[in-house]
Amino acid sequence: MTTFESNIDPTLPSTRQNGANAESDRNSLTIGSNGPIALHDVQLVETLSAFNRERVPERNPHAKGSGAFGEFEVTEDVTKYTRADVFQPGKKARVLLRFSTVAGEQGSPDTWRDVRGFALRFYTEEGNLDIVGNNTPVFFLRDPMKFPHFIRSQKRLPDSGLRDNTMQWDFWTLNPESAHQVTYLMGDRGLPRSWRTMNGYSSHTYAWMNAEGERFWVKYHFHSEQGVENISNDEATRLAGEDAEHHRRDLFNAIEEGNYPSWKVSVQVMPYAEAKDYRFNPFDLTKVWPHADYPLIPVGRFTLNENPVNFFAQIEQAAFAPSNYVPGTGISPDKMLMGRMFGYADAHRARIGTNFAQLPVNQPINKTNSYTFDGNMRFDHSGNAPVYAPNSFGRPYSDETGAVENSWEADGELVRSAYALHAEDDDFGQAGTLVREVWNDQQRADFVETVAGALATVREPVLSNAFQYWKNVDAETGAAIEAKVLSGKAEEGEIPGGDPVNP
Ligand code: HEM
Repeated sequence: MTTFESNIDPTLPSTRQNGANAESDRNSLTIGSNGPIALHDVQLVETLSAFNRERVPERNPHAKGSGAFGEFEVTEDVTKYTRADVFQPGKKARVLLRFSTVAGEQGSPDTWRDVRGFALRFYTEEGNLDIVGNNTPVFFLRDPMKFPHFIRSQKRLPDSGLRDNTMQWDFWTLNPESAHQVTYLMGDRGLPRSWRTMNGYSSHTYAWMNAEGERFWVKYHFHSEQGVENISNDEATRLAGEDAEHHRRDLFNAIEEGNYPSWKVSVQVMPYAEAKDYRFNPFDLTKVWPHADYPLIPVGRFTLNENPVNFFAQIEQAAFAPSNYVPGTGISPDKMLMGRMFGYADAHRARIGTNFAQLPVNQPINKTNSYTFDGNMRFDHSGNAPVYAPNSFGRPYSDETGAVENSWEADGELVRSAYALHAEDDDFGQAGTLVREVWNDQQRADFVETVAGALATVREPVLSNAFQYWKNVDAETGAAIEAKVLSGKAEEGEIPGGDPVNP
């Protein structure tokens, strides 16, 4: 840190929390130089007890990350799709972007193979808009019920506390809708060179509404203006050992040097009525919308130009939530997204505290008039204004009935079902297209190498399931993976499935 940017006056002597001058930051109060410490050394008690409470729990998924602030600017006219103030021509807004890995804990290496989080907040004049996405356009699952199981399978074994490839692959192969995302993950996007050189995606389908009330389904894309660059397995392993904070350092240093990274913002737009009969469920998070069907429509760009001055206050306590949407934007009938409407604000209440929304990094820039009150650590309040709605004393409240802007039709019995209503509602099709039609020979060869490496320690019956999983994606690639894994085992004198300790 080169400058001293905070609300601390550099001429002020140090104080205790009550504002009185510190008696000492350096020596505790003892009876004689070597005598016992006095319990009434308020400063020592305050110092030790505050230290014991410095940490909040890390995020359950996406614990390791970092971010920066910046500016978004609308460069195009998308008013025919959305009335959101932040997307009106020429508008500018402050943004906060936090990048992360998913499975690793705080302190885990940035370059372990993983999906990367791309959580973008727009501080708009109509409230906070958060697009909490990833660096891949799809996800492992399509039902929120499976999410906690998925995350646990990627973390640690209950007995040894070790990460375990068998557990990871067991979950993926028993949930074949994961195939498209696992293909991305095992491909080159699983190891971005830096956060600056990767794209971001909402992945989910969201809703946009224009001033006339017309509705559209949209997917957000954030394309790196630095270009997309990835690294090899060997480089990632080396960096993990040399500098666990490689990506965090790269971003911070680039911004310190005035080398501001930027991303183009665009959307794919599907007219509301087309969703019903599209060839696959357009709300299925395991699918991309082919650009031939829905081309990218440019919106604007954003630049990250401001590092945090306090990591804990501005990054660790940042509470992103897909439920932070603003007028003219909204959600879609994607079950995962609907699950996320609950999951995030609840995580923040548990991790940061009831009044997490009052922290400066989480406060919207516009004034709020919320009928939520009190609770631990509340400091912003509505004075003696009425605490109930409706009221006769002038505090604004909403109408008894109001227009539901973000709406769609739904009718049917309550069921617990997987999607299978559209012609192409499958698990493996788009993963196969990615392998066969998007990748070149080198990318396919690297992919086989990476998957075979990841499967090397996987035990039966999961190993055989994994071979079948990849054959379902692409017969030739699956066979190549199987041959590579089995030849590796033969060289080591190991018979697949024959481990007597861990059958
Ligand atoms: C973080 C839940 C799906 C992207 C989190 C956190 C929770 C969570 C509890 C930690 C929040 C915190 O403590 O601050 C869920 C659930 C999901 C889901 C229940 C599905 C039902 C997804 C999907 C994406 C995603 C589909 C991407 C498209 C992220 C990102 C973060 C995150 C980027 C880190 C946010 C940050 O930087 O603070 N998720 N998640 N999640 N999730 Fe999800």
